[in-house]
Amino acid sequence: MKLKTFVKGAAISLAVAAVSSAQADITLRHALTGETLDMSFAKKGGNTDKFKQFMQTGKNPYNGDAEAVKKGESLYMTGCSGCHGHEAEGKLGPGLADDYWTYPRNASDVGLFEVLFGGANGMMGPQYVAFNTDEMLHIMAFIRHIYKGDPKKAEWLK
Ligand code: HEC
Repeated sequence: MKLKTFVKGAAISLAVAAVSSAQADITLRHALTGETLDMSFAKKGGNTDKFKQFMQTGKNPYNGDAEAVKKGESLYMTGCSGCHGHEAEGKLGPGLADDYWTYPRNASDVGLFEVLFGGANGMMGPQYVAFNTDEMLHIMAFIRHIYKGDPKKAEWLK
């Protein structure tokens, strides 16, 4: 009986895995609940080739791209600096340029994207209301660019 339940459960999770891998290679989860992020909330215009690449590899293709970092900086100044500080040194929200993360998954691009798209606690609401997914990748490239923490803790470079 127990074995039967186990086999049934395994079959279901295999089926679920097959469906999600047909859509994308990575699964995005909410930083607090662990629930799969509902990408239908995404603003129009963000499903660029670069974003598709991110969904396949889990790596931000804009990292290290000077043009993208510049655009990301300007978006960051509009949408994030009020709470996180102009140099991401921390203000209402925590610093984003050091290697201490409330949510350790932020040391990876997938984790950082998850907090941007889905939000976290309190004033850190989902950023999909303000930015499309391609813009979020630009902002992330800026955040990685100004990183001042220990290079060994930069998971996104691995
Ligand atoms: C209204 C203020 C506010 C705005 C605007 C805001 N944040 Fe936040 N942010 C916060 C607060 C407060 C937290 C702490 C939430 C928590 O601990 O769950 C936070 C947490 C975070 C974290 C998690 C940090 C960690 O240590 O794990 C990241 C990453 C982040 N914000 C990035 C951004 C970016 C990028 C933007 C702009 C697109 C942004 N935030 C806009 C207030 C804000």
